[in-house]
Amino acid sequence: MGLFSKKPMHLLLEEAGDSGKGLKRTLSAGALVALGVGAIIGAGLFVRTAAAAAQNAGPSVTIGFIIAAIGCALAGLCYAELSSSIPISGSAYTYTYATMGELMAWVIGWDLVLEYAVGAATVGIAWSEYLNKLLVEVLHMAPIPYEWCHSPFQSHPDGTVNGIMNLPALFIVGILSLLLIKGTSESAFVNGLIVITKVAIVILIIVLGWGFINEANHHPYIPPATTYVDHAGISHSFGGFWGVVGAAGTVFFAFIGFDAVSTAAQETKNPKTAMPIGILGSLAVCTVLYILFAHVLTGIAPVEFFRTKGGEASVVAAISEYMTGYGWLAKLVTVAILAGFSSVILVMLLGQSRVFYSMSKDGLLPKMFSDLHPKFKTPYKANLVILVIVGLFAAFIPGDVVGDMTSIGTLFAFMLVCVAVIILRKTDPDLPRQFRTPWVPLIPILGVLACGLMILGLGWTNWLRLFGWLALGFIIYFGYSAKHSVLGKTGKAVHPTDPPKPEILD
Ligand code: ALA
Repeated sequence: MGLFSKKPMHLLLEEAGDSGKGLKRTLSAGALVALGVGAIIGAGLFVRTAAAAAQNAGPSVTIGFIIAAIGCALAGLCYAELSSSIPISGSAYTYTYATMGELMAWVIGWDLVLEYAVGAATVGIAWSEYLNKLLVEVLHMAPIPYEWCHSPFQSHPDGTVNGIMNLPALFIVGILSLLLIKGTSESAFVNGLIVITKVAIVILIIVLGWGFINEANHHPYIPPATTYVDHAGISHSFGGFWGVVGAAGTVFFAFIGFDAVSTAAQETKNPKTAMPIGILGSLAVCTVLYILFAHVLTGIAPVEFFRTKGGEASVVAAISEYMTGYGWLAKLVTVAILAGFSSVILVMLLGQSRVFYSMSKDGLLPKMFSDLHPKFKTPYKANLVILVIVGLFAAFIPGDVVGDMTSIGTLFAFMLVCVAVIILRKTDPDLPRQFRTPWVPLIPILGVLACGLMILGLGWTNWLRLFGWLALGFIIYFGYSAKHSVLGKTGKAVHPTDPPKPEILD
């Protein structure tokens, strides 16, 4: 047993079976689409869209959304095959363990920390921006001082003040982590309400904003290729082909979360059909909304606005500045966005604890990550460690940096998922698959290429961050995980006898 040992498929399927000890199967396909949309619409749309328009593509950020959606759909088809044939918690991590062996499973599990934990930090930072809008524009109070709601790596555009730490981001991550530890079944209802509100707000902005589109802002739709240097001195390809591809990598963040649906496979009724519907359905709904929304947003305000005044809480800033008479909409959006971001953070924190739980059961992480709270039956120690990791990122790193790190980490995970489909077709051709990815290997290969292109578009600073992160992961794997792997020691995978209660999914 070693680096390339694979977790046997029959053990995985037994783990997924309804043994009476496992998670309750309560989710329908509709609930999965709601869960997906709840996880998907968030900071990506309400913050990163404007960042991509400002730094990369101007109005052609809509084309970036189309490229990102194509990449996600291709990877989503692969996710759907894997989640319908390996319906077990742990997402891409579990699929990789079964197909490419332990080392790659570790790489992906480690990489998923970027998606879930660093992603949660990104949305926490966006939450902090909108909290200031709430304080100033809705409650008519003083804003939180700049230094206490920005990272030490940020300074005010007018150069007068530096950030120290982002307290509101830390606060929201802390509160939601504690909520997860307690585990509330009411929150499924609250989550449903938030999902409806988020979708309603997006539709309202599209419909009302359409009349305020200034055609001049849409010309030229694809700006000529040049370089844009932001406040922090980082250069971005702006306009032309690479500008649009860079925008795709940035707004890709807005789609992250549809794969979180697959982490709920063990709690799904009839996962073999519900999973593909849940994954692809939530992706389809969001794609249409995003393209229309981005078209309206970049039509209302010029690129220069998103680079300067509208840099933060950009959607509300644009509504307040350019949609005369719609002050009420700006207020409503602010409140809805704060609630909406909270649900995204919650799902991401939950996804992260599930991945850590699976890795701990396999011995790749210490046992404490799968210890359950005696009363609440939640993996509370994992949640606390995650709180520290996410809290550090949220408090001290700028939103742009964590946002792009989330995108690049997730894109890399998606590439491995596509490869896993090709491998599993070869190694286990007879495994029953309710959903089969069409045209294998073409679709997975196109998925790898689309995600790879977006990784290229994100630029070398982000490649370096990804390499650094993976290098840290290798140190932990060879220093700890390889020696403690249950599969490595016994040749057998463990059966999770008492997995955590599905706190918000009941
Ligand atoms: N897709 C999620 C968001 O945009 C992560 O906030």
